[in-house]
Amino acid sequence: MVGLCLREITILETGELPILVEYIIRAGHAAPSADNTQPWQFSWDGAALSVSFDEARCGGGLFKASSPAVLLAMGAVIENMVLASSLVNSTVNWSFPVYKENTSELAVAKISNPLSGINEDAWQHGLFARHTNRLAYRKKRIPIEQLSGLLPEPEQDIGMQIFDSKDELHELAQLVKMASSMRFRISEVHEWFAGTLRFTPSQVAQGDGLDVNTFPLPPGGRALLRYTSSWRRMSMLNRLNVYKVFAAIEAQPIEAGPLLLAITSPDTAKSQFNAGRLMERVWCDLNASGFAVQPYYVIADQITRYLGGALPPELDEIACKLLARTKRVLDKDGHKLQMLLRIGYAQQPAIKSRRLDISKVLTVS
Ligand SMILES: Cc1cc2nc3c(=O)[nH]c(=O)nc-3n(C[C@H](O)[C@H](O)[C@H](O)COP(=O)(O)O)c2cc1C
Repeated sequence: MVGLCLREITILETGELPILVEYIIRAGHAAPSADNTQPWQFSWDGAALSVSFDEARCGGGLFKASSPAVLLAMGAVIENMVLASSLVNSTVNWSFPVYKENTSELAVAKISNPLSGINEDAWQHGLFARHTNRLAYRKKRIPIEQLSGLLPEPEQDIGMQIFDSKDELHELAQLVKMASSMRFRISEVHEWFAGTLRFTPSQVAQGDGLDVNTFPLPPGGRALLRYTSSWRRMSMLNRLNVYKVFAAIEAQPIEAGPLLLAITSPDTAKSQFNAGRLMERVWCDLNASGFAVQPYYVIADQITRYLGGALPPELDEIACKLLARTKRVLDKDGHKLQMLLRIGYAQQPAIKSRRLDISKVLTVS
């Protein structure tokens, strides 16, 4: 630990914010989210800090407040904030998850001494370095013992399974391919994904969505992504089975290994939230230990859509097969797949994705 941070109050357009509170908020804001949508909103009223789903900014999007994708992200936000709270010079008492009628508030922290400051090196914590790496990984095998040592004990009702054999990776790649082939045939999902893509520097500078430079695109891939952003064109190309090509491209890195970690839990909001907390802890530890990580949510997403009756009827048959095959691989009774993490040694460092300006995710009263 080096000296105390002298700056005690930050003046934002939104008002005054003690540096300690800003630190905890920025830790939450560093969390991962589906398509980098950052569906969270922080509020500070001078004594309490609360975290909610941002209904106004994200309520009309693909993932609603109660969806597993949002709960996983919110779990990750809270995990970061709780960890950051343990690094500051004040007592921070968290209550979560809170489910109140007519509010999307998820967590509240009472901060006893918000002006007490933070240590300068608190900003160097590994949670700020966690990131997604979608590029190719080296073929080098990961000794399971090395990985198991990094994984926390599966807690409460959350399960973790490691897959690294050729057969297991092949089967999981097939499942990703099936789920991904569904995704590219659903107009709502395709249009949503296309809307999150950021092609130009000014689009990237908005601070949300997916910078296409983070994708391992082959020559011409960027132009193809742009061209197929329109559902009209994608659906025309789908008559030539282009969705199968896209799905095969998405599944290929899974087959190449070297390793996958599946996070499972019962299908309840609280378990999904806890799965998000565990995911974040594991992901931060893996990055800090030199491993590259990429989440794959597509299987869980398509199964959620199927179970929620949100798929077009022509996809019901493939969804039913996807569900049955996924259950066979992830054999824990009563658990549903929440997330797959592809883990390996990076060939190249990833470009770090941006975040929205803090004023867009914060209210100070
Ligand atoms: C619920 C959830 C689902 C995600 N699904 C995927 C995915 O299927 N493929 C992928 O490459 N990244 C996925 N991500 C990673 C996000 O795109 C990523 O966290 C976000 O773009 C921010 O980038 P960062 O992780 O580098 O901070 C997912 C993240 C979350 C929390």
